[in-house]
Amino acid sequence: MEIIRVANAQEGGKKAFEIIKEGMTKGVKVLGLATGSTPETLYAELRGSDLDFSNMTSINLDEYVGLDENDAQSYRTFMKENLFNAKPFKESYVPNGKAEDINAETKRYDTIIAENPIDIQILGIGQNGHIGFNEPGTPFDSHTHLVELTESTINANKRFFDKVEDVPTQAISMGIASINTAKEIILMAYGESKADAIQAMVNGPVTEEMPASSLQNHVNVVVIVDEAAASKL
Ligand code: GLP
Repeated sequence: MEIIRVANAQEGGKKAFEIIKEGMTKGVKVLGLATGSTPETLYAELRGSDLDFSNMTSINLDEYVGLDENDAQSYRTFMKENLFNAKPFKESYVPNGKAEDINAETKRYDTIIAENPIDIQILGIGQNGHIGFNEPGTPFDSHTHLVELTESTINANKRFFDKVEDVPTQAISMGIASINTAKEIILMAYGESKADAIQAMVNGPVTEEMPASSLQNHVNVVVIVDEAAASKL
């Protein structure tokens, strides 16, 4: 893993932006995208740039189960507001959290990933080391699947909802194996609350109890961290 230390999230967003921009000059066509507050500065850079995504494909990591794609809290809405409205892609895939047959939806999503191999995958990290919504204990050979969210994740995400009861308890997420098919992975983390997860991801044992540690087995991972997130390295 290459570790890049930055002063703050603004600088981190600029670094990630530069990697994507450079990649696009070398033929990057498919971006794997993430939600959460971490990639917001990257998306601001992309929105303000002159990059054109109209010939590119994006594939998002995950979506809450039960939320309509137009729901204010859906990850589809987050992506529209943060990126897609300003910078439309040829095609932007997000799992359908309202699918009647969730199993069929996970299979459909795996087919999409297989047909559009991800060149650069953007990742944040949960305080418990989750990537996408792959909670501790998720098998490393997992593909897109239905996830029961942990209390820690529900609590961390309740800030986006009126009350904790409104936070969905399930999600559809790309699996650990799906994420690791990306040719390059950029994981960003800012703030002290991520320090333990970053230390375990980089220096800890490779174990399914720490989903992000699977990235130690990937050949092309860039980790962009501020001083607080890097404080336990
Ligand atoms: C959510 C998302 C993850 C994200 C994580 C951290 O659970 N599913 O993709 O990385 O939270 O979020 P934040 O960047 O807001 O700290």
